[in-house]
Amino acid sequence: MIKDINLFYFYNSRGEPSIKTEILTENGIFSAMCGTGKSRGKWEKKTFNVKNSIENFLKIKKQFLGISEKDWKYFDSLLEKQKNIGAELTTPLSISCLRAATKNQIYNLFEKKSFNFPYPLSNVLGGGAHGGSTSIQEFLIIPSKAKSFPEAVSLVINVWKSVQKEFKKKGFIAGRNDEGAWLTRENELKTLDMLSKITEDFGCDIGLDFAATQFYKHGFYYYPFLGKKFNSEQQFDFVLNLIKTYKLKYVEDPFHENAFSSFSDLRKRVGICISGDDLYCTQPDRIKLGVAKSSTSGIIIKPDQAGTISKTLEAINIAKENNMDIIVSHRSGETCDYFISDFSLAVDAKFIKCGVGGGERIVKLNRLIELWYKLERPKMVKINYL
Ligand code: PGA
Ligand code: ZN
Repeated sequence: MIKDINLFYFYNSRGEPSIKTEILTENGIFSAMCGTGKSRGKWEKKTFNVKNSIENFLKIKKQFLGISEKDWKYFDSLLEKQKNIGAELTTPLSISCLRAATKNQIYNLFEKKSFNFPYPLSNVLGGGAHGGSTSIQEFLIIPSKAKSFPEAVSLVINVWKSVQKEFKKKGFIAGRNDEGAWLTRENELKTLDMLSKITEDFGCDIGLDFAATQFYKHGFYYYPFLGKKFNSEQQFDFVLNLIKTYKLKYVEDPFHENAFSSFSDLRKRVGICISGDDLYCTQPDRIKLGVAKSSTSGIIIKPDQAGTISKTLEAINIAKENNMDIIVSHRSGETCDYFISDFSLAVDAKFIKCGVGGGERIVKLNRLIELWYKLERPKMVKINYL
């Protein structure tokens, strides 16, 4: 039974205000924190001023005391009714309650006999809203040949380190961004040329998160460092060309957040994972729109976009019923909570997108390494296009 709830005004990796929640039961204290985004989608659950959210919750805290943690779905339904509390508080509260219900074993939520480990989808070079010269926001690495999770992590770390070394030699690195990825000084094509040589050496594949809504203005996609602006057809051809030239295995948000038909057209042309982040914002109603048009074969799942774990699971169920690959993802402003690692196992995610550089990123990969050794019968998930 929930005996008390404590809230702490903390900070995330970007120095933004953030909240740590604690739920106290007779079994102990169950805490949580969650990340927050900068390249945010229009349909995400809103975030509020942290101080206001805390004050507003304290006024209604009593409603949540005395509930059994096993009734976490009811706990979530109460959270979803609150109009004056943002995702930065509803999400960690919901995670805390689920941690209490599962006694800190969220990976065991569905009591599975064996565990499929996701592939890391790791941001090693960045641009877009996270800084850097490219409009494309994230250059991602997939350790496709890895036979185990520890091997997968070793590969992405080696690529991340080699990127630093090789790009630095040429003066192409301008620092590190919010997600611990290197900031490239070069344009999209030169960056991909150099990156593909490195990934070939390590037997890894490349994926891209365009986060295209961020550079779509009045009908055009802008690429200042390429000296180009593309209309929708030209953007389509550009994306298709990159997929073929660099043998990409994963492409996220290549078109703006309402371009369901462009996503569908691209998906029909290629056999790789085309996924939606800003397109869906982990919202069941948006996913249904995508399903109706067969827009994507994959979906980014960010629990804070939904605001509670119940709503996140509702989104995942719709996506899975329609054979979409689940990609559980961090945010650019993160914390050292590794909830998404445990959750990725619970929901059989194909990928975990959590970066490599920085304590708040590596803690999520380390957690999965730990579970790889502790759980019985771990194996890498099957992905037919890798
Ligand atoms: P955000 O970006 O966390 O800054 O919103 C991540 C993404 O677009 O995948
Ligand atoms: Zn994204």
